[in-house]
Amino acid sequence: MTSSTPRLTPVTSDNFDAVCAIRLHPHQEHFVSPVLKSLAEAYVHGPLAWPRAIVDGDEVVGFVMAFLDHPWNGDPADRRSGLWRLNISADHQGKGYGRFAVRAVAEEVRRSGGSHLYVTWHAGERGPEPFYLGLGFRTTGELSGGQRVGVLDLAPSK
Ligand SMILES: CC(C)(COP(=O)(O)OP(=O)(O)OC[C@H]1O[C@@H](n2cnc3c(N)ncnc32)[C@H](O)[C@@H]1OP(=O)(O)O)[C@@H](O)C(=O)NCCC(=O)NCCS
Repeated sequence: MTSSTPRLTPVTSDNFDAVCAIRLHPHQEHFVSPVLKSLAEAYVHGPLAWPRAIVDGDEVVGFVMAFLDHPWNGDPADRRSGLWRLNISADHQGKGYGRFAVRAVAEEVRRSGGSHLYVTWHAGERGPEPFYLGLGFRTTGELSGGQRVGVLDLAPSK
């Protein structure tokens, strides 16, 4: 990260255009849905979804959406929280914003009483797997919709 302190902010009418303008490198586009689709899903899923702009200074550098206390694969006895979407703008990748967003979502999940942060990813060349493994996620051995499932154990808040 070059200079300032990134933060997560709600998506509002003020930053909507900038959030929707986030673009990945073309070879990454099949790894995650476009932000516009995620925002539509957030609208449909209501409190289950936690969409946030990743902002540094005045600039929107990415988008993250968490799912909070979601019945996993429709099983009401298996409720999980985690990262649903993470899109760092192509020209802002490699500056620590992805790591920041994962940590910020982990903090939100911990605050809401969760002890694990889940994520799923498409395994594949130049995909996000090394990013997540580098942040301490381990694979659970499960597949969800053909994607690999990873989990990070969260230390309790102090
Ligand atoms: C994957 C992604 C979120 C990473 O965000 P980022 O801001 O570029 O990552 P950071 O700068 O925070 O990197 C954190 C660490 O992960 C490493 N890293 C990041 N992307 C990596 C990749 N594709 N392969 C290997 N390592 C990677 C960085 O080198 C850095 O390592 P360090 O701690 O040794 O310095 C971003 O590249 C992206 O949006 N990709 C396209 C969409 C996508 O795949 N989203 C995830 C959907 S599940």
